[in-house]
Amino acid sequence: MNVSATIRERRSIRKYKTTPVAQKTIDSLVNQAAALYQADTEEAPQWRSICYDTPEGRHSLADSMIAKVKGSTLGKLLPGKMLDLIKKQVTETPAHLVFIAESGSTQRQRDENYAAVCGIMQNVQLLGWELGLGMLWYTDPMLNSDRFKAEIGLRIGERFAGILSIGYFEKVPRARKRTPAEQKWTALEGDVSGDAAPHRLSSQSGSAHKTASPRVSSQSVLTLLNDAVWAPNDGLREPWRFVYAGDGEAADRLRALDGDASAAFLLVVAKEEPDPHKREEDYAAVCCLVQNFQLLAASGPWPVRRSMPAWIYDAEQCKLFGVRPQERIVAVLALGGDRRPSPSASANQVSPAVNITHC
Ligand SMILES: Cc1cc2nc3c(=O)[nH]c(=O)nc-3n(C[C@H](O)[C@H](O)[C@H](O)COP(=O)(O)O)c2cc1C
Repeated sequence: MNVSATIRERRSIRKYKTTPVAQKTIDSLVNQAAALYQADTEEAPQWRSICYDTPEGRHSLADSMIAKVKGSTLGKLLPGKMLDLIKKQVTETPAHLVFIAESGSTQRQRDENYAAVCGIMQNVQLLGWELGLGMLWYTDPMLNSDRFKAEIGLRIGERFAGILSIGYFEKVPRARKRTPAEQKWTALEGDVSGDAAPHRLSSQSGSAHKTASPRVSSQSVLTLLNDAVWAPNDGLREPWRFVYAGDGEAADRLRALDGDASAAFLLVVAKEEPDPHKREEDYAAVCCLVQNFQLLAASGPWPVRRSMPAWIYDAEQCKLFGVRPQERIVAVLALGGDRRPSPSASANQVSPAVNITHC
């Protein structure tokens, strides 16, 4: 895969050919996508997917998707044709893949499961694009209904990550521009112990800290980020921000927290919307961006290790790295370090025995 081109050229597709998509193609995409996901987690991420690719399955899914609107006052006011149109669109799309992050005993574990499933969904989209398969990640609030949750078998504590509608495409819609990563970038240098920690672009010189790792320049990170920002994101809210620590006390503190002599760190931060639905979508979009970044770095000069350490759940710690009150860290990316994801986590991530049910 030409990773950079695929990431930039992939578009959300809303109109598909009627050509069926073979079950084995979908299974293979999901398996490959899962194998590509890498994160340093204590437990292997838990998730599953359900594929609606039979006429009966799609009809049943369509009925549960529109149930909320149909039963509402708004639905009663809407012309019947509107709901028929949604139903037609769902039943005529060759396949729909529902993704669910399973529950976990801690918030961190639940987030690791959710981050994994979102990263895997982005991988499915990229791998599918190479085969001429277009997809739309769909999370409309209309899906927040008991009937839909029952249809997909959502259990307490589980998170519905979205539906990927899948089909071969004819036309590629025009791309909508992304904001350059430089405009969402803060480099930390010097003292991070106070509120007035200086935020400026790193000069990349004069680091007192000695690392055994290859040098990671802020420019090389920005180059990858300017491809990674072509992640799907609802409403084009681009809900991310980047905090880079290459030199100085912030980087030293991150090395101490991380326990590895990485050359630099990138904290990928999500804006926290007050609306819980948007907040969840934005978190997912940031996970897609992080996934893009990891894929791009895989053929680059320095390794990337992704983690969600316990300290990112401590607001006071996050504040030390310039994270604002309405933000949260989605991923800590250790750049140019020696440590690899723990064997238990990566063993599961490359397992081909992906949990996918067809209906
Ligand atoms: C978590 C998530 C949820 C999304 N939900 C919807 C949706 O409900 N309806 C929709 O039309 N597009 C949805 N999208 C797709 C975005 O609208 C799309 O990514 C954005 O417009 C940028 O276009 P592109 O993907 O072609 O680059 C979603 C994307 C993500 C990542």
